[in-house]
Amino acid sequence: MSIESDLYLVKDYDKKYCMQVFAPQDVAFVKGKGSYLYDLSGKKYLDMIGGIAVNSVGHGHPKLAKAIAEQSKKLIHCCNYYYIPSRSELAYTLCKKSFADKVFFSNSGAEANEAAIKLARGYFYYKGIDKYEVITAKMSFHGRTMATIAATGQPKFSKPFEPVTPGFKYVEFNNISELESAITDKTAAIMLELIQGESGVNPAAPDYIHAVRKLCNEKNILLIDDEIQTGVGRTGKMFCYEHYGIYPDIMTLAKGLAGGVPIGATLCSNEVASGFHVGDHGSTFGGNPLATTAANTVLSIIDEENLVANAAVIGDMIMDKLQALKAKYPQIHMVRGRGLLIGIEFAPIISAQMMRDSLLEKGFLVSAIGASTIRIAPPLNISKSEALSFTSEIEKIMKAQSKLK
Ligand SMILES: Cc1ncc(COP(=O)(O)O)c(C=O)c1O
Repeated sequence: MSIESDLYLVKDYDKKYCMQVFAPQDVAFVKGKGSYLYDLSGKKYLDMIGGIAVNSVGHGHPKLAKAIAEQSKKLIHCCNYYYIPSRSELAYTLCKKSFADKVFFSNSGAEANEAAIKLARGYFYYKGIDKYEVITAKMSFHGRTMATIAATGQPKFSKPFEPVTPGFKYVEFNNISELESAITDKTAAIMLELIQGESGVNPAAPDYIHAVRKLCNEKNILLIDDEIQTGVGRTGKMFCYEHYGIYPDIMTLAKGLAGGVPIGATLCSNEVASGFHVGDHGSTFGGNPLATTAANTVLSIIDEENLVANAAVIGDMIMDKLQALKAKYPQIHMVRGRGLLIGIEFAPIISAQMMRDSLLEKGFLVSAIGASTIRIAPPLNISKSEALSFTSEIEKIMKAQSKLK
């Protein structure tokens, strides 16, 4: 019997043979099409979490599937000892679409951030300036490697693994005076998410980001913009910094960039790229032909199908519907976010896990973040009717909850 036909066996092997760092919901998916996933029994689910903001062009997109299949027959990997045409093309496209002049490719968000932190330190080192400290925000999330758990302003991610990489300081998000007081003559970089995704979908205030940019300019500090979750069209702009009318010095991307094929990218200006010399950084897989071909294809699908605009339009529609539900049902405390990255915070009596599990039963996938917030980050090509089926399901659950009271 194939393991793909037996959820019991899948779970049993997982528990016995996989390190138990995740707490999966009671389901295993074997197929996806567009905005839908199908489990072992064939049940269909609307994927409102999109692999945590990864499946930017949905599941089984014919153009992406074809490009990956064709590239895998031609060349999957050859390593960075050689020039790679699809890597050159992807770097060119990302630079044309953003503030950046140069890109380094890796395989995940954490790696993209590791590169950003090293780059910021290297930049000052090669200038002969003794600056190495990185200030990040409390409740931020920047990854799971040793430097990125140090960057992450949530001790729960680093406590068991101390001592963590030194040189990081944490300040309250959206509090400019606290940030200003934390700056010293050793501050090399300020690293922020413009929307804190993992801690509840909390957007940065525009005034705060303008003031941060100004401080960075005045004090010769690099602004690292972690767009691993917010980048590549997610918020209704290609990059979230565009909403704020500022440019970062370094930006990191991953998640949605190759539609599910692992990739990370660290982007910066020519000036900042002087922080890396030959041999200073690298990656065996980073920028390989398969991943960069997938990313090139995702970016062309996003352009051809107008998906940044779709994220803005459908995101606004979901937001309006949810705000209307919030006005009607006091169980909804707050709705936050931008484009297709939205957090719905419920009253404390409604646990996020309960909401997530009820939605799963009804055929909708979301993530629970914290005690009372659920997050959605569906494919950028989700349709209006698919999105409306989700908001009506939320309304049904709220109605049922009201009757229970
Ligand atoms: C803002 C942000 N930075 C970094 C990461 C880490 O990315 P990865 O899990 O690909 O290492 C994440 C992942 O959720 C993220 O949301």
